[in-house]
Amino acid sequence: SRNSSNLHMRLLLLFAAFAAAAAEQEISEGPSDTSVHVGKAATLNCKVSGQKGAVQWMKNGFGLGTDRNLRFFPRYSMVGSNAEGEYHLRIENSTVGDDDVYACQISEADGESSVVSAPARLTVLVRPTAPKFVEKVAPTLNAIAGETLQQACVSRRGKPAPRLGWAISSDAQGREVTAWLGESRAKFGNLFKQHNIGTQVSLAAQIDDEARIEGDVISSLSNISFVPRPEDDKKYLLCISQHETFPDRVEIDSVRFNLQYAPRVKLTWAGPAALREGKPALLACNVDARPMNDLKITWYRNQNKLLRHTTDTLAFEELKMEDHKSEYTCETSNSIGTSKDTMKLDVQFGPRMMSTSQEKEANVGESVTFQCEAAGNPTPIIYWSRAGDEQILAKGETYTIDSVEAWQQGEYICTAVVETFEHAKLSHHLFIRGAPVVSMQSAVQGGTGESVELSCKVSGRPKTREIQWTKNGEKLSYATGRHQVHQVPRLYGVDSRLIITDLNEDDFGQYNCSANNGLGSDFDTVILRKKSIVDSLMAADLHYLLPIIACLLFCLLLLCCCIACKKRSYSKRKGTQFSDAESDVTVKCEALDGNYYPDMYGSPIDNPNIITSKDYISVPQNNPDLDFAGAAVAGLYPKYLDNSMISDYRYDHHSYGSFISGGSSPNTHQEIFSTEKPMPMPGAPMGVDGSPLETLPEVDTPKASTYSFATIDGVVRPISRTSTHV
Ligand SMILES: *[C@@H]1O[C@H](CO)[C@@H](O)[C@H](O)[C@H]1NC(C)=O
Ligand SMILES: *[C@@H]1O[C@H](CO)[C@@H](O)[C@H](O)[C@H]1NC(C)=O
Ligand SMILES: *[C@@H]1O[C@H](CO)[C@@H](O)[C@H](O)[C@H]1NC(C)=O
Repeated sequence: SRNSSNLHMRLLLLFAAFAAAAAEQEISEGPSDTSVHVGKAATLNCKVSGQKGAVQWMKNGFGLGTDRNLRFFPRYSMVGSNAEGEYHLRIENSTVGDDDVYACQISEADGESSVVSAPARLTVLVRPTAPKFVEKVAPTLNAIAGETLQQACVSRRGKPAPRLGWAISSDAQGREVTAWLGESRAKFGNLFKQHNIGTQVSLAAQIDDEARIEGDVISSLSNISFVPRPEDDKKYLLCISQHETFPDRVEIDSVRFNLQYAPRVKLTWAGPAALREGKPALLACNVDARPMNDLKITWYRNQNKLLRHTTDTLAFEELKMEDHKSEYTCETSNSIGTSKDTMKLDVQFGPRMMSTSQEKEANVGESVTFQCEAAGNPTPIIYWSRAGDEQILAKGETYTIDSVEAWQQGEYICTAVVETFEHAKLSHHLFIRGAPVVSMQSAVQGGTGESVELSCKVSGRPKTREIQWTKNGEKLSYATGRHQVHQVPRLYGVDSRLIITDLNEDDFGQYNCSANNGLGSDFDTVILRKKSIVDSLMAADLHYLLPIIACLLFCLLLLCCCIACKKRSYSKRKGTQFSDAESDVTVKCEALDGNYYPDMYGSPIDNPNIITSKDYISVPQNNPDLDFAGAAVAGLYPKYLDNSMISDYRYDHHSYGSFISGGSSPNTHQEIFSTEKPMPMPGAPMGVDGSPLETLPEVDTPKASTYSFATIDGVVRPISRTSTHV
């Protein structure tokens, strides 16, 4: 019985399984979600097997009927072959009313229960109207760059709701988008096949979207507020619409910007990139502005308005050192606003000495330091050398000799170098303290009644305070007033000049100039000899004499002619006041201490003739130095002796011009230290050492009215002055 019950169970299970396989009705293929454009046909699939009951479609749970024609729904029908069990729902000329949820059902029959497919959504798509700007009055959109702009765009009656976005493009069709607004790039960027994706930017924008349901369809409105930029001018603002009815494309409405904006300024140099002293340059103010016609341009130099410059360029005829680090500003304005650009100039300029020449006195074994400062751009390199020697002794602003030796006395030159510019040099002098060295010409000639000047060079440091002149071993008598001694401080020491006027027989003889500076003494003598014509003739060789006489005669003839000519021209130009024909006075203008400002004149070595000698005409003596502003420099030259016979050179007593002609200050090594005395040329005007007076070009001194005393790196450039009264 246990076996039979087991068999029973097995049979029962087998039967049940067979019955299910053979008889149960089912839906082998159900409908899937489908979308259809309005007016087009759509088909929802339904395939059944083992069908016992009737098949019908449910629309939103409502049965449409079981006959294939579905006569109550003229546009609906069930299509397919009965043999295959096909009951596809076909919808012709679909409308938005067809948008619903559909399911396929087999009714219950023969004890079998009904079967329902999974529901499927039929979406009916309605193409919305093309996007349109809401307030598009003109073909262009007039606005001000930098100010908030509001625009609205609408796409109507779509299903589902159309989606809107915004962009700025170079063209009306959106082929070259330059900027996306708000989140538009993320939403629409993939629909734009652009070659300039890398340069596209996203601009902040406030975008408010509104969907308005109008029955079965929806209208979308997008409001945007954003700030257009000047570079958006003449570009297009795009309203972009995207919808399921055109899934791979967008629709666009566009409007062209016509922007006004405050000037945009950029200062640039026209010409070579590096600015160089002495070279011309043109600073250009590149302005982009709308409107442009009411544009005003103002230039500033270091915040100071340049009143005469109103154009968009600023020309520099010649860049100056003072232009370095100066700031130029171009300020422009139009009706919309004002803007400016500033540029700091970087002008390359050659070295300028900022320190002055130094003289140092030292005892042997002492330490001596010279200082030399120079300005330049780029910063100059400074090196030191001895005059006449190429060897570089040191580099840098200072040069120190730790333990001075006698041979180190001399001239030291610091040279400032800026590549590609002329070097600047400044000489310094080192003197070793010791006994003075006195030197004079061995002989001087003078005729009775004439004036003569005996010059005694006293070299050495300390500068000699005590210089004595004697004649034939006797003290000079100054009582007659015909003898005068002038002490002129010189670089090498002191030049003591004995001037004897109105020579008489007693004055001829040997003069002795002796000096004592406390460390020692020295003397030298000069013979003052009476001049005679025979002397001059004897001096010359006989076969030179004839041509000389011939020459003299010719010169005489020429002179006569000249005088005749002059006379005639005088009578013509009656107003002429000056005549150099009778000039017997020399005015000399020189810096007495040898200190000058090389940065004003250029390198002292390159132009050693900084101290000029020039012949002028007719000098009234002791004329006041009218424009001399004395106080600050009075007493620059101390009295050298308390001897009342010796005039001193304080210029609160005398103007510069109160001494008679002499040589210029020594400037070279040779002149300071040489003791050689060349013989004077007969008849030639003589300098201190007997050489003819140099005729030098006049130094071009800067004029206070035009010269810029600008400071460079805090160093105030010294002001030099020269005054001469003739
Ligand atoms: C669908 O519309 C077309 C054109 O309007 C018409 O010719 C056709 O008869 C319509 N079909 C049905 C089934 O209504
Ligand atoms: C869009 O802007 C218009 C005016 O241009 C306004 O009337 C409307 O209310 C705004 N809509 C939204 C959603 O901000
Ligand atoms: C010159 O004067 C000095 C000092 O008075 C004296 O020592 C010297 O011997 C004099 N020389 C001559 C040549 O007279």
